[in-house]
Amino acid sequence: MTTSSSAPGKVYLFGEHAVVYGEPAIPCAIDRRASATVERRADDRLRVHAPALSLDGLTVDFGDDVAVDVDDERVAAALGYVRGAVESAREYVDGTAGLTVTVESDLPLGAGLGSSAAVVVATIHAAVRELGGDIDDDELAERAYRVEADVQDGEASRADTFCATVGGAVRVEGEDRRRLDAPDLPLVVGYDGRSGNTGELVAGVRQRREEYGFAADTVEAIGDVVREGEGALSDNDTETLGELMDFDHGLLCALGVSARSLDEMVWAAREGGAAGAKLTGAGGGGCVVALDDGGDARRALELSPVCETAFDAALDREGVRAE
Ligand code: PMV
Repeated sequence: MTTSSSAPGKVYLFGEHAVVYGEPAIPCAIDRRASATVERRADDRLRVHAPALSLDGLTVDFGDDVAVDVDDERVAAALGYVRGAVESAREYVDGTAGLTVTVESDLPLGAGLGSSAAVVVATIHAAVRELGGDIDDDELAERAYRVEADVQDGEASRADTFCATVGGAVRVEGEDRRRLDAPDLPLVVGYDGRSGNTGELVAGVRQRREEYGFAADTVEAIGDVVREGEGALSDNDTETLGELMDFDHGLLCALGVSARSLDEMVWAAREGGAAGAKLTGAGGGGCVVALDDGGDARRALELSPVCETAFDAALDREGVRAE
C-alpha cells in the first residue's frame, strides 16, 4: 500500500521579516503544491526519492549514520526536511518501520514560495497515515514547525507551516495564528531562478534594526502596512492592496533584503499593469508576487530578461489533503 498527501506553497501578501519581531504577517496559500508518497518497507531504513528536487532525479538511502553527500545545498537541505518529517511522524505514531518516501514539488526551492514547509507538512501527513495514525491540523502544524526550526537552526517562523497546513490567507502574529476571510486574489509570480540565504538575510535585518532607530521604525511601519492591508483584504479593495504591496516592497528594500533582479521584476509587473508588486519571502533572489486584475503582468514578467519563469497563481483555500 502507498499513502500520498499534498500541501500548498505560499506567497507573502505582506509582512515577511517584520513577523520575526512580533509584527503581523499575511501569507496566502497558492495553487502550486508539493506532494509526498509514502510506503512502508520490510526493513527499518528510510529511502527518499526526490525526482523533482534535481535535474537528474535523486534517490538517497539514509542508514543509521550515513552522511548525505549531495552537491547542491538546497537539495541537501530539502532532504534534511524530509528526514526530519519522517522522524517526527514515526515518533508521533510510535513506529519504527522503514519507509520509502517519494517527494514531488511544483515549487522552486528556497525561492520564497514555502517549498520546504509544503514538503514537510505533506510528508508528515502521509507518513502518519501510512503508519496507521491520524493527525489534526494543530498537531501537524506544530510538528512541521519544529522540523523546520531544527533544520534551520531555530530561524523559522510558524507562518509557512501553518499556511501549508490550513490553506487560504492566514494572519500570523507571534503565537497567534488564524485563517482570514479573503476574496479570490489574481496573483502572478515571477521567479529569477535564484535563491536567497534566509539566515543571512534575517541576520542582516536584525543588525540594521539594532544599529539604527529608523530601521526599527521601518520594521514597525511594515506592521502598519499589514494592519492596513488586512482591512483592504476584507473589503476586496484591489487598488489599495496593490498600493500597500508596493509600499511593503519599498520598506523591504530599505531593510536591504531585495536584489536587483527582484526590483526589476517588481517594476516589470507594475509596468505590465499590476495593481502592486513586491518580493515574497526572505528576498535576496527568488520570487516576486504581483496583484494583477486585468493587466498583463505575467507577459511583462516573461519579457523581463531577469525573469526565468512567470505564472498565474490563485489563492488555494485547501491546505494539506490526502491524495
Ligand atoms: O523565504 P521564506 O518563504 O522562507 O520566508 C522567510 C520569511 C522571513 O520572515 C524572512 C523569516 C521567517 O521565518 O519568518
